[in-house]
Amino acid sequence: MELVATAILLLIAGHWTTGNLISNAALTLLRHPDILRRFRNEPDLVVPLVEEVLRYEPPVQFIPFTTALADIGITDTTIPKGAQVWLLLASANRDPKRFDHPDRFGPDREDNQHLGFCTGIHYCFGAPLARMEAQLALPQLFHRVANPRLLADPPPYRVNPVLRGPRHLPVAIDGLIA
Ligand code: HEM
Repeated sequence: MELVATAILLLIAGHWTTGNLISNAALTLLRHPDILRRFRNEPDLVVPLVEEVLRYEPPVQFIPFTTALADIGITDTTIPKGAQVWLLLASANRDPKRFDHPDRFGPDREDNQHLGFCTGIHYCFGAPLARMEAQLALPQLFHRVANPRLLADPPPYRVNPVLRGPRHLPVAIDGLIA
């Protein structure tokens, strides 16, 4: 029973999320042709690029149904012990008090401490693996296809408010680069 529960957890926590990270990154790059052009010439850009996708289009949008274990003071508000709290990670990632021009996608952003993998004791266990998968997949994809362009914008999305990503990402290309 524990084995099955762990397998299901890893499939959802580790597979769906990383798939969404790669497709959200592909979509965002195709919407920013100037950055895509740069990425093809600067392979090292992939590291800050993946971090910026985790901030700008996070695969996990929010964490529902958490509970405050103590009274928590935030500015002039107190969240009482026992209250149900929903953590809006995607919203915090666009907080203008924390990030300059938060709605602008830019892999050159400095001090990019996003909440794409949450924070604290529940910080994502698989973050290093997810980062590595995206950092390997994106160059393979974009350095090998000629003239990629979106066929649908926005693409069709999965119906899931927590795990956000396209169901399909239809793209036209002019062929493969050897
Ligand atoms: C881009 C991909 C991923 C994203 C965006 C992501 C995001 C997150 C977030 C936001 C949490 C916090 C959940 C909470 O506080 O309730 C979390 C926890 C977790 N993630 Fe990931 N995750 C990703 C990939 C993975 C992978 C590849 C694995 C495993 C192979 C994984 C395993 C876990 C586990 C086990 C936890 C629970 C950690 C704990 O509660 O101590 N995740 N993840």
